[in-house]
Amino acid sequence: NNSKQNSMWNYWSYFAKGIEYTLIITVVSVFFGFLLGVLLALLRLSKGKFQRAIAITYIEFIRGTPLMVQVMFVYFGIGALVQSLPALLAGIIAVSLNSAAYVAEVIRSGIESIPKGQTEAARSLGMSQTITYRYVIIPQALKNIWPALGNEFITLIKESSIVSIIGVGDLMYQMQLVQSATYKGVFPIFITMVIYFVMTFGLSKILGYFEGRMKHA
Ligand code: ARG
Repeated sequence: NNSKQNSMWNYWSYFAKGIEYTLIITVVSVFFGFLLGVLLALLRLSKGKFQRAIAITYIEFIRGTPLMVQVMFVYFGIGALVQSLPALLAGIIAVSLNSAAYVAEVIRSGIESIPKGQTEAARSLGMSQTITYRYVIIPQALKNIWPALGNEFITLIKESSIVSIIGVGDLMYQMQLVQSATYKGVFPIFITMVIYFVMTFGLSKILGYFEGRMKHA
């Protein structure tokens, strides 16, 4: 057997492509998950019974079902309605919809962690509801929300690996391709693990740096 031909280094482009897909899915899903998450949190905190019920139902349902099933449901479900839905798009939609539920809870608990007295004090000083939120509640809540959103980002790097089951060419998927091509079972897994770790650890260091700077701001 030609050892040069079977060297893992010949497959670096597979891993590179996988990293690229994993990062694209993660970044795009963090973005849309955040937007939808804010919306859900606002609904969840609103005074309307109906709005709250919608948000609670969504959040509980998403958090109460496996991401794997959600990914398949979006891919084959929407795929049945829309002809040839790209797997990448389905993956991004599913991961975004999933993340939004978790982000909504992060934002809600961040806002609810601010004592009632803060609102009461601001309101008694004549600030409107909106001004109170904007200048009193949100700035304090962000101190708790920001790190938790960073954690969500890191979580999605790992959890997005599940989109490989619908054939999206993320890192996990590329790993399987390398396994088949090299007839090596374990080494590609090991490389993949290390790459995931470098991504999550690197991101956590980067986020930690910004967090440190925010404390002094
Ligand atoms: N493995 C979890 C599940 O299947 C993924 C949860 C995703 N978590 C998140 N923070 N977006 O439900």
